[in-house]
Amino acid sequence: MKIAILSDIHEGLNRKKTRIDIMTLLNNWLDANQPDVFIISGDMTAGPEKSLNLLNQLQNSNPQIKIIFVHGNHDVYYGDSTQAYEILLKFPGNLGNGPIKLDDNWVVIGEGGWYDYTFGMKDYNAEHYALGTFGNFTWPDKTYANWPMDDQNLTDYYVEKMEKWLQEYEGKNIIMVTHVVPFSHFVQRKGDPSWDFFNAMMGSSQFGELAKKYNVKKYIFGHIHTRYHELYEGIEIICNPLGYYPHEWNHSSPEKEIHSTIKVIVI
Ligand SMILES: [Fe+2]
Ligand SMILES: [Fe+2]
Repeated sequence: MKIAILSDIHEGLNRKKTRIDIMTLLNNWLDANQPDVFIISGDMTAGPEKSLNLLNQLQNSNPQIKIIFVHGNHDVYYGDSTQAYEILLKFPGNLGNGPIKLDDNWVVIGEGGWYDYTFGMKDYNAEHYALGTFGNFTWPDKTYANWPMDDQNLTDYYVEKMEKWLQEYEGKNIIMVTHVVPFSHFVQRKGDPSWDFFNAMMGSSQFGELAKKYNVKKYIFGHIHTRYHELYEGIEIICNPLGYYPHEWNHSSPEKEIHSTIKVIVI
């Protein structure tokens, strides 16, 4: 079974900046490569309706490919992010609806997830991170994502939800997916507080702990726009973001960048 993996497509931004239809390029790649499954680990675009619409388009154009999704922080930018979350559940391949069995052995379990500051600097506390401002930059989620609970409680909600599913499928070959980062190992520390402060918003070690506890075979995430594919703690880890044009791309051609970035694994 061929599984294609990509995250952080940021369709709106990348389409506007490149003036190229990103979705056509994705469709062309899917057409030519025909994976069985395509896992998109968050940040499709900004706003739930647009993200849902793009996911539906992609699934309808490729009915033979199972498209699996978890939401990113940008997908829930909305007046009420709980409502945004519900809107995104309308996509059948959204893992928030429950685990998806690929065959008798393999199951995909995931959620968008959130962050609880476990990757932040020790010099700051939860109050600083809740405000999310360092110098004159405020973390955009503080402005555009509107949840009824604080970041730490929201993260706990996702952890509890996923743990139930992981318990249910214990012993199976599990592919775990979140948008956010599960291990501090994948968070870049630059020794510059104007960067390191915002590592608090990259993810939570609780997701990594779950992955270890339930012996997941593979872990797919996104959110940090740095690509990783390595074995860590005995888990095959894949973070495969497209990221922002042009500074996070290797090629100036959107077609080349997208087509060379999408990763395929075989199970
Ligand atoms: Fe992103
Ligand atoms: Fe993100």
